[in-house]
Amino acid sequence: MDKSVTIVGQGYVGLPLAQAAARAGWKVWGLDTSSKTVEALNEGRSHVDDLSDEEIKEMIGKGYEATTDPTCISNSQYIVVCVPTPLGEAGSPDLRAVEAATTTVGRHIQRGATYILESTTYPGTTDNVCVPLLEGHSQLKVGEDFNVAYSPERVDPGSKKFGIQNTPKLVGGVNDESTNSALGFYGTFVDNVVPVRGTKEAETAKLLENTFRHVNIALVNEMAQFCHELGIDIWEVINGAATKPFGFMRFTPGPGVGGHCIPIDPNYLSFEVRKQLGYPFRFVELAQEINNSMPAYVVDRASRLLNKEKKALNGSKVLLLGVTYKADIADQRQSPAVPVAERFMAFGADLQFHDPFVEKWNVSDDPTSRDILLDREDDLEKAVSEADLVVLLQPHSIYDIEKLSQRSKIFFDTVGASSSDSVVKL
Ligand SMILES: NC(=O)c1ccc[n+]([C@@H]2O[C@H](COP(=O)([O-])OP(=O)(O)OC[C@H]3O[C@@H](n4cnc5c(N)ncnc54)[C@H](O)[C@@H]3O)[C@@H](O)[C@H]2O)c1
Repeated sequence: MDKSVTIVGQGYVGLPLAQAAARAGWKVWGLDTSSKTVEALNEGRSHVDDLSDEEIKEMIGKGYEATTDPTCISNSQYIVVCVPTPLGEAGSPDLRAVEAATTTVGRHIQRGATYILESTTYPGTTDNVCVPLLEGHSQLKVGEDFNVAYSPERVDPGSKKFGIQNTPKLVGGVNDESTNSALGFYGTFVDNVVPVRGTKEAETAKLLENTFRHVNIALVNEMAQFCHELGIDIWEVINGAATKPFGFMRFTPGPGVGGHCIPIDPNYLSFEVRKQLGYPFRFVELAQEINNSMPAYVVDRASRLLNKEKKALNGSKVLLLGVTYKADIADQRQSPAVPVAERFMAFGADLQFHDPFVEKWNVSDDPTSRDILLDREDDLEKAVSEADLVVLLQPHSIYDIEKLSQRSKIFFDTVGASSSDSVVKL
């Protein structure tokens, strides 16, 4: 069982972790329930933005193996769980994947091993959900026979500056031995591993980080709306404030929040606060209300821009640029482009889109209704010059924004990417 690890869940979090561990000399099994993902990985094909096919092949060369067979757990010194934690009905945490993965681990874990949960979740999950499942299925005692810790993932998809190695990693175990064991694992490929008092502190630290961003984005989004009404340039305001070298951190307005960390994770905290204590986590709820209002605000501003030209949204050609949730990545999860598009279509706009990462775009947000598939406009410059209105939602670096804005009839920049005066900014 020497230097061997099973990483459960081979997605945006688990796969880069598998790469880091393989490079550090660990024998890595990438356990996933999706046979399609496992097959592709073993054939050297990546399904995650941050890893290329060549990097998967390099991992395989170092002994990495993707598998659907959980027996690898019994040969592993460490088992790290990185499975999804979405929201269930009525915004409640959906821990089914964590429970299923932990049950599998419990059935195969051996004495002396260390279980680490990385999935983002509410405080108490490791102690109150995972530990009973592990003990129940293994017939072993946590803290005596094997170790358990929580370590939040802090991956910043698409970032060239911060990766696993240079992003400090928090670790909180159920006891000192568990914390030290997890520190030992991450210390083989992360420069700075930081212990915190326990699992709950590590779980809550992750939720504080995400809530901090959610709240600060909501703050500038709300300011953007009233600054526009007051004739104040919010972008100049933010640039000015950001010259202060202490006590301020730059956040910028936009068409809404996307991905997993901001729209979903803070709900785990507010749900648990309300469930356990009976009162709301007001900052999260307010941030949600403001950030969720941004797609409608963008469409309202767009309609006012067309109105100035004596045009209605109904029948106007509207081109959206960039529909992923973040610049320069292909991930579309929770992208605010979907509610923006739905609203434009509800007003009768002739909607088009372009995104270098998306060929066919499903504009339907509702999994129970039928898909609404749009084909990408392949001739970007032609689409830009023919549209009545171009709306920049995601500033992918391939976009020459100044050039595109000069070619368009009206260019509405919702992310402050342009420096030109002819562009209308949020
Ligand atoms: N993506 C991010 O940027 C990010 C950042 C920080 C934290 N997180 C957190 O990390 C966790 C994982 O997120 P992700 O983005 O990697 O998800 P993902 O959807 O990209 O990948 C999850 C993988 O787990 C697999 N899976 C699901 N149930 C399983 C099971 N029972 N056993 C084995 N495999 C299973 C899926 O097939 C999938 O391949 C979530 O809790 C998320 O909140 C994500």
